[in-house]
Amino acid sequence: MKITFLGHATLEIKINEYSIIVDPFISGNPMASEINLDDLKPDFILITHAHQDHTLDVEKLAKQNDSVIVSNFEIVNHFQNKGLKGHPMNHGGKWNFDFGEVKYVNAIHTSTFPDGSNGGQPGGFVISKNNKSLYIAGDTALTYDMKLIALQYKLDLAILPIGDNFTMGYKDAIIASDFLKCNKILGYHFDTFGLIEIDQADAINEFKRVKKELIIIKPMEHITI
Ligand code: NI
Ligand code: MN
Repeated sequence: MKITFLGHATLEIKINEYSIIVDPFISGNPMASEINLDDLKPDFILITHAHQDHTLDVEKLAKQNDSVIVSNFEIVNHFQNKGLKGHPMNHGGKWNFDFGEVKYVNAIHTSTFPDGSNGGQPGGFVISKNNKSLYIAGDTALTYDMKLIALQYKLDLAILPIGDNFTMGYKDAIIASDFLKCNKILGYHFDTFGLIEIDQADAINEFKRVKKELIIIKPMEHITI
């Protein structure tokens, strides 16, 4: 799996020939201004929850690429009503897609669309393929439910929000890493706007102090697991 950071909470996961875009928020993010939406060709678009900083570019990308939208029932319904393709899931359920297995797991957050309509309950994803497993937390607080993931998956990487205020901060992400039994963390959802600015060097050092790895990369940079 190749994981490219596209700014804020947006990711591209490449598995074999498939491109999976998670939570596309690019056209509204000045820190992702070098990314051209037209260059992205997602076969699937995974959405953790309905907030604008996770859904802004879903419609455009899905229309251009005939992508299948994967999210909770309410979010998929919302986009199906606009004529887009979708695969609805709900918490605790998993499905085998062409690119691999996806489980929709709990998150503690909210999930209302920008116009106030119902975006169901927020979630995260565990994606597994070829004995590799990746957890994408979405926007969430630290939660004991993360222990359940460690009971079922041996994670190679966990992608956790570290920006605080709207989600857990990096100190809670260290505890999340314990719950998940995964010491390799890619941090996201930080520094995009004022309320989630962090001291990156301090975050990395806090992880080092407890012999864990916090990876922070710039938009368009990638890591492979
Ligand atoms: Ni949110
Ligand atoms: Mn968010």
